[in-house]
Amino acid sequence: MSAFEPTPFGIPSDVGGKDLGIFLPIANGGWILSKNKPELDGSYAYNRQCAVLAEEAGFDFIMSMSKFRGYGGETHHWDSSLDPVVLMAALAEVTSKVKCWTTVHTILQNPAVVAKMLATLDQVSKGRAGLNVVTGSYKGEFSQMGAWPEGVDHDARYDLAQEWITAIKRLWKEDSVTMDGKYFQLDECESWPKPEKRPFLVCAGSSQRGMRFTSEEMDAIFLSGADPEELAQASHDAKADAAGIGRYVRTYSMMTIVFGDTDEEAEATAKHYAEGFDEGALHGMMRAYGFLDAEIGKENAFTKKSRSSFMSAYVTGSTQTVIDKLTELFAVAETDGLMLIFPDYLTGIPKFGREVLPVLRERFPGKVKVGNHG
Ligand SMILES: Cc1cc2nc3c(=O)[nH]c(=O)nc-3n(C[C@H](O)[C@H](O)[C@H](O)COP(=O)(O)O)c2cc1C
Repeated sequence: MSAFEPTPFGIPSDVGGKDLGIFLPIANGGWILSKNKPELDGSYAYNRQCAVLAEEAGFDFIMSMSKFRGYGGETHHWDSSLDPVVLMAALAEVTSKVKCWTTVHTILQNPAVVAKMLATLDQVSKGRAGLNVVTGSYKGEFSQMGAWPEGVDHDARYDLAQEWITAIKRLWKEDSVTMDGKYFQLDECESWPKPEKRPFLVCAGSSQRGMRFTSEEMDAIFLSGADPEELAQASHDAKADAAGIGRYVRTYSMMTIVFGDTDEEAEATAKHYAEGFDEGALHGMMRAYGFLDAEIGKENAFTKKSRSSFMSAYVTGSTQTVIDKLTELFAVAETDGLMLIFPDYLTGIPKFGREVLPVLRERFPGKVKVGNHG
């Protein structure tokens, strides 16, 4: 424990246990690119129900992403999305236990604005606030609003993020901050109120630079990795990188859960989604990811993988199979948590909460709390 960096609030960052959360469907379509999936409209009404259900089911956190441009296609995938900060403030008010993590793009918001937003969310949520820090990866999403920093490449965007979060952390603690950075300048800048608990900080950077940023500044990292062995390696690398500089980061991954009464039924459901794959939305996603027009429409490893229609790792099966697969995942990968996605959250959250969550809690005990909040 002594190797772990105390937070500015003097609380150790290792609290053990597994953090189970919900990736809120704040954009229409959720994380399945298919015409055959249940309708997810990305509305406040739907997300509010998800938050209340997540709280009732005993999940640890709910998180919303930040998205400014969708992928189109027949399903208009992600063309409509809510603002994650306003949303989480509202959801904090209708919940009392579940942690509320929002997302902010470092290239869009001045750090003094975000320091105040999160201090406000800390008050509204009574200490349940968290922030997913994203640098912004897709040019079109930001150039459409004249906010793409030309000449600032991928790694430099993490340099910018580092200055940004440094400024925010200082504003949360210090009476007045003066900082002459390359990207941000603060001149006796004041920010009140201070958060009572330092908001939990997560990042999903998968590049080397993103991982280093996370090691230095964050409490947790979201890793991608579909199979437990791959994830184990990624988790080990992330923890080793942080330990190398005397810090500890919790490691999380994402998983879509497709339940069925039997394994066959769940597999048939997944197949049905794949059959309704939205090719147009895939093209939109590829354009956003920076594929050249000439490559769009051709088959490659990316399109092949995408054709399952699932945008994240997924498991299909009966309750027992889901329990077995997630048990194996945690046992092999030794990650600290999982953020879940459901095709239909309104049935998926309560079912998982009733049938799977208690078993995972029993198998992987620990103080079921998130990160640095003690
Ligand atoms: C769980 C998770 C949540 C993410 N949320 C967002 C988001 O809300 N907005 C966004 O632009 N990117 C988001 N990303 C993308 C990451 O922030 C990151 O840019 C991406 O994983 C590539 O890593 P890199 O930046 O190190 O290259 C997310 C990724 C994951 C795995």
